[in-house]
Amino acid sequence: MSQFGSYEERIKNFSWSMAEQELEYRPGDVINIGWYCSDRICQQGKADKPALLWEGMGGKEKTYTYNDIRLASNTIGKFLRDLGIKPEDRVCLFMDKIPELYLGFLGVLKIGAIAQPLFSAFGGESLFVRLEDAQTRAIITQRKHVSKVRKVLEQMPFLEHIIIVDYDEKKELREREVAFSLEKATPVEQFEIHPTTAESPSVLHYTSGTTGKPKGVQHVHYSLISQYLSAQWALDLRDDDIYWCTADPGWVTGTSYGIIAPFSLGITQCVQDIGFSANNWYQFIEKKRVTVWYSAPTAIRSLMKAGEEIVKKFDLSSLRHLTSVGEPLNSEAVIWSQAVLGLPFHDTYWQTETGSIMITNFPGMKVKPGSMGRAFPGLTATILDMKTYEPINEPSKVGLIGFKPDWPAMMRTYWNNKEAYESKFINGWYISGDRSSIDREGYFWFAGRDDDIINTAGHLVSPFEVESALLEHEAVAESAVVAKPDDVNMEVVKAFVTLKPGFEANADMELNIMNFIRKTLSPLAMPQEIEYMPSLPKTRSGKIMRRMLRAREWGEDIGDTSTLDND
Ligand code: PRX
Repeated sequence: MSQFGSYEERIKNFSWSMAEQELEYRPGDVINIGWYCSDRICQQGKADKPALLWEGMGGKEKTYTYNDIRLASNTIGKFLRDLGIKPEDRVCLFMDKIPELYLGFLGVLKIGAIAQPLFSAFGGESLFVRLEDAQTRAIITQRKHVSKVRKVLEQMPFLEHIIIVDYDEKKELREREVAFSLEKATPVEQFEIHPTTAESPSVLHYTSGTTGKPKGVQHVHYSLISQYLSAQWALDLRDDDIYWCTADPGWVTGTSYGIIAPFSLGITQCVQDIGFSANNWYQFIEKKRVTVWYSAPTAIRSLMKAGEEIVKKFDLSSLRHLTSVGEPLNSEAVIWSQAVLGLPFHDTYWQTETGSIMITNFPGMKVKPGSMGRAFPGLTATILDMKTYEPINEPSKVGLIGFKPDWPAMMRTYWNNKEAYESKFINGWYISGDRSSIDREGYFWFAGRDDDIINTAGHLVSPFEVESALLEHEAVAESAVVAKPDDVNMEVVKAFVTLKPGFEANADMELNIMNFIRKTLSPLAMPQEIEYMPSLPKTRSGKIMRRMLRAREWGEDIGDTSTLDND
């Protein structure tokens, strides 16, 4: 049972203003996420409570109290302000999961600038398109990632400052680079936080589109209301919890529920900046006495693969509530966790655009393995007919998930791309782009995406971006990229290519092309398989028929091929 009683009891009186009251926020007031996540918690008498328990490579550990994160975010905020960063300037956070990422995020928000977190494994090209689109003024990064910035620096005249948080003093800083050390900087006790209001922009998260460039999903400070409340309701976070969100803040889960929600609730959270292994993860849970765990199906499937014997080596009895997001949580994973960990994983469904959890198996609610759960209170969620975009109202019939766009964390626009933003709304519904059905009890059953985007290990990869990058390779003449089924990652990237004359289609070339994509885009976008083709299937108008190639990979019916160019 959750801290609030049953879903039915609670939903009766639901209103977003519950969060406003708890946060002592009245419409029109100043609302700054940075302040809510640090200063306010200190004012509540929790200055000495641990906020962040961090563990890095080689057993390195750091603990930050709420007062520490208040001071650190002030200090980073002042540093940025002194550099001339103004409210609404975009500041990119391009770091591994080191403390500066979490504290820097709050510092950026405190000065009213827009935080643009980017996954640190992104290569130069992925970085460049996102910084260019946002016209980012400053980037905060680490030594190990700075070469990727330097590589594309000439193309980025708008990027004025490259802030390196771990600079080696013996080395010279290059053009536009500046060193910042949180450990050496004088902590800033008094800081004037920028008086952002509800609609002031806060976070800009880039998400992959089916066609065209990635889109910058723009959120506002008012999103806090959704994130704060949903973390209590869906993740069941309570004051004495030790919470572990495994997501990287380069992605929305890592910011909404890896920074904003836990800190605004004054919870202790832990972060591990070490690569995945079943051993590391179980050990971390045991050591930190994790109570609430927010993870993803790929990780759960990897744990399943590691077997049950390893679980027995650890004391995982601290765990109280398990949750998952990002991709379909298969029923086997829920049944496995119930049997092996003694608790079921509770699925949560949402998107970068929605900013907070939309559909979930609430604590205290019957979990139906394989279902995403029910709509979050306060939302109008439905299944829409795929052609008319009218609600279907028929149990178990698959259509598009649609929401009335009226919850606090909903994106406010796509950066610089109003047209793409407006295309997401039809008949007053926000069209998620996902297909699902609802059963008689209001549980959603995910059926798939309605586009060609690849969801690999919970991360969206645009086939268009990979295809374009493949064409940059000297040997590639044409390319088509689709999802291929995978036991652990659910989907992986598969590329079909034709080579230019004079290049040989062999295994070395395959590796060469794979590496090229890994470096220019990211390891996630790297094709796990490249198939050479003499030519790619095209329509008579010359469009590559990705759909056909995808169907082949999934053993599905190829469908209507009447428009195929057979010449
Ligand atoms: O297709 C859905 C899938 O991930 C997409 C959103 O990805 P992103 O914007 O990167 O945000 C991920 C984390 C919030 C959705 O459109 N997805 C997300 N959660 C689930 C899911 N698919 C199935 N089940 C889920 N629980």
